[in-house]
Amino acid sequence: MDLTELPELDDFHEPQGVIDQAQRLMARACGAQQSLFLVNGCTAGIHALLMSGVEGERVVIPRNSHRSFFGGLVLAGSIPVWIPAEADPDLGIGLAVKTETIAEALLTNEQVGAVWLTSPSYYGTCCDVAAVNRLLAERDIPLMVDEAHGAHFPFHPLYPRPALRDGAAAVVNGLHKTWPVLTQCACLNLGRPFQVNPGSDSPDSSGQLRSQRGVRLMSAYHMLTTTSPSYPLMASIDIARDFMEREGQRCLQRALELSAEYKTRLNRIKGVRCWGEEWTNLPGIIAVDPLKVVVAVDGLEVTGIQMGELLRREYGIEVEIAQPRIIMAMFSLLHNRDDWERFYQAVAKIAICYPSAGKKQETNYLPPPWHMVLSPREAFLAPKNKVRLKGARNMIAGEMVAMYPPGIPCLLPGELISDDILEHLAYLKRMQVQVQGPVDPELESILIIE
Ligand SMILES: Cc1ncc(COP(=O)(O)O)c(C=O)c1O
Repeated sequence: MDLTELPELDDFHEPQGVIDQAQRLMARACGAQQSLFLVNGCTAGIHALLMSGVEGERVVIPRNSHRSFFGGLVLAGSIPVWIPAEADPDLGIGLAVKTETIAEALLTNEQVGAVWLTSPSYYGTCCDVAAVNRLLAERDIPLMVDEAHGAHFPFHPLYPRPALRDGAAAVVNGLHKTWPVLTQCACLNLGRPFQVNPGSDSPDSSGQLRSQRGVRLMSAYHMLTTTSPSYPLMASIDIARDFMEREGQRCLQRALELSAEYKTRLNRIKGVRCWGEEWTNLPGIIAVDPLKVVVAVDGLEVTGIQMGELLRREYGIEVEIAQPRIIMAMFSLLHNRDDWERFYQAVAKIAICYPSAGKKQETNYLPPPWHMVLSPREAFLAPKNKVRLKGARNMIAGEMVAMYPPGIPCLLPGELISDDILEHLAYLKRMQVQVQGPVDPELESILIIE
């Protein structure tokens, strides 16, 4: 199967045959005007969309965004206007952005070229994309959505609404997160604002992109994609698209029912609490993906990190995330009742073995406020030195620190290493949270910019 661009197999960078056909089928399935396959994950799509802007433009980005945004900002030379994500007041995890927060960012910043949302969040919580889009449409600013974890939304009406349906100009879907595809498969799905009017007789009416932003987007997409795209990956996308169209709704319906049943049962286990729909009572959150099962373990004598370890070691269950206070299991549309039951039984057994002795766990999981001193590109280009972390107070960070998973940075290159940040990093270390980014993963030392 692992052939290359032979005449019958089309050309990824000039698609006119089977790849073009597969992309058109994908666009139809996802409700997009145009779909562009990504064989290097969502990261390449996020980078390409950021590069569709002009150097120096401001881009509004929620702070609970994935680390790949930083790379895109470096490549594009744009300036982030970071906005805070609304956090769960109890768990302290960033979940969604309020429309009002974006309105405020637009009032206080000129030259905003694009606004981004991460919806769903890593925890499955979705923003009010339609409201944000209304706000931006008045100002002719495109809305881009990192919908990495929401590629399954178009296939069942009771799941959160896909962002394209609510007016997003472009979304990045990480197919490999929720579809049955090979890892790295993703898709850049474009909505109307990037497109020519169908039937227009302008020279680019054959589905090519019209605006200058669109032209830059296509250049960036080709620049960032290998000239040897993997056919197994592309075939995997095409097969999964066909599967989702034929079987997606049925599988998602089963998953929806299992999720409702097992979340109720998990909530009856003493010492654990399962989160979900009630998050829609928090500002900015209008829907929650039922496939993300977030379980708080505050009522037990184990941390979420220890719980994750027990599940892996003793029950052969790999959770998506294990953080100090929670674990998150990520069910797929193909897990069956036995899988859900196994997870439930394992949590129930651990809860019996580790009842709480009444000790309250620490809660400061949310990263402290950031202070950007240099733009991402300036910080990327600046010479770096390594210093002891303890001595780095009030210096400018030369590298990123992101909890992993989910890969959301708490410190970015070019930002001030404040007392609050130092305290937060010490907390991550104490809780043995895995981090990505620093050359010294033990966080004894850190790169700084002089
Ligand atoms: C919300 C979000 N966006 C983007 C990405 C990057 O996706 P990929 O790993 O497919 O490049 C991730 C990866 O975990 C993610 O969770």
